[in-house]
Amino acid sequence: MARDIGIDLGTCTVLVFVAGKGVVLREPAIVAKNNRTDKIIAVGQEAKRMVGRTPTDVTAVRPLKKGVITEFDVTLIMLKHFLQKAAPGFSIGRPRLLIAIPASITSVERRAVAQAGREAGGGQVYLMEEPILAALGAGLDISGPRGHMIVDIGGGTSDIAVLSMNEMVRQISTRVGGDAFDEAIVRYVRRAFNMVIGESTAEQAKIAVGSAMPMERKETEIRGRNLVTGLPRGLIIDSYTLREAIDEPLGVIRRAVRQVLDSTPPELLGDIIDRGIVLTGGGALLDGLDRFLSNETGLPANVVEDPVSCVARGTEKVLDAIASYQDHMKKISV
Ligand SMILES: Nc1ncnc2c1ncn2[C@@H]1O[C@H](COP(=O)(O)OP(=O)(O)OP(=O)(O)O)[C@@H](O)[C@H]1O
Ligand SMILES: [Mg+2]
Repeated sequence: MARDIGIDLGTCTVLVFVAGKGVVLREPAIVAKNNRTDKIIAVGQEAKRMVGRTPTDVTAVRPLKKGVITEFDVTLIMLKHFLQKAAPGFSIGRPRLLIAIPASITSVERRAVAQAGREAGGGQVYLMEEPILAALGAGLDISGPRGHMIVDIGGGTSDIAVLSMNEMVRQISTRVGGDAFDEAIVRYVRRAFNMVIGESTAEQAKIAVGSAMPMERKETEIRGRNLVTGLPRGLIIDSYTLREAIDEPLGVIRRAVRQVLDSTPPELLGDIIDRGIVLTGGGALLDGLDRFLSNETGLPANVVEDPVSCVARGTEKVLDAIASYQDHMKKISV
């Protein structure tokens, strides 16, 4: 018997759940390839280490952008590689695959995901929206007629959804996720300090001392190039400066949450007042984001444990009881 497999095919991170084994793989969604020969040089963790450090004819690419596949062939190679690593020989039994998809995705984009799943060796391929999987992974019982609010902050997008009876009642996706914070830091450092830094450097600084709320002052060193002299340069940057740098993307998320709340039916709002906002996705790890959203909305807000694997854990819940979720999944034949 082939084991069912759940996949969170994210912009930043790919996770694979294998029935009976758990979430066995978590790797960056990055592929390094040679531009001249089109040869794939490295996938995942190994490729991530090459970002920004590759020779001119090698580029590290992310085959997904904003949660959707932009380079189909590269995505397929990456997916095959990860599945083989997570469940060697898995394709022999043509297992069922459940793949998480962003909440707002076109039917063409959806079809591409299903096709990648099929070509990677899946038998039946099921698709289910990330906010629903995130809620299940967080351990919420969303089967009843009560409202729950999920804010999933990934790399490329943030999905904000109100769920009830295993469906999304209200939903907004913004194209602002954790990566937008890194980009904002790069822009800020350029403007304020005349210094160019890479996005990985910005991400490291964000993880080290970034925060959504004024916290105690912390510092970290960033390295890049002085725009005026063209020479390498190091700079100590603190949490207050970073807070200012990410003000704009934070505002986008705040407004999207407000917008969803504004359009949520009052009965469901009542439930959300009791239970609060549940934060998932790697971006939710930004220090103080829970307090920030709580202040902005007056609702309790909590980050789930291990927010990065939440969607993958949700696939486990669905695969365990696939019959009861049939109506909520999309099965696409390609
Ligand atoms: N400790 C941390 N503090 C702040 N941000 C973090 C932390 N850890 C990870 N992140 C950010 O989380 C983001 C990645 O989250 P995740 O892996 O959930 O994305 P994804 O699911 O691949 O993306 P998407 O859902 O948009 O396709 C990145 O922007 C990363 O910088
Ligand atoms: Mg995600």
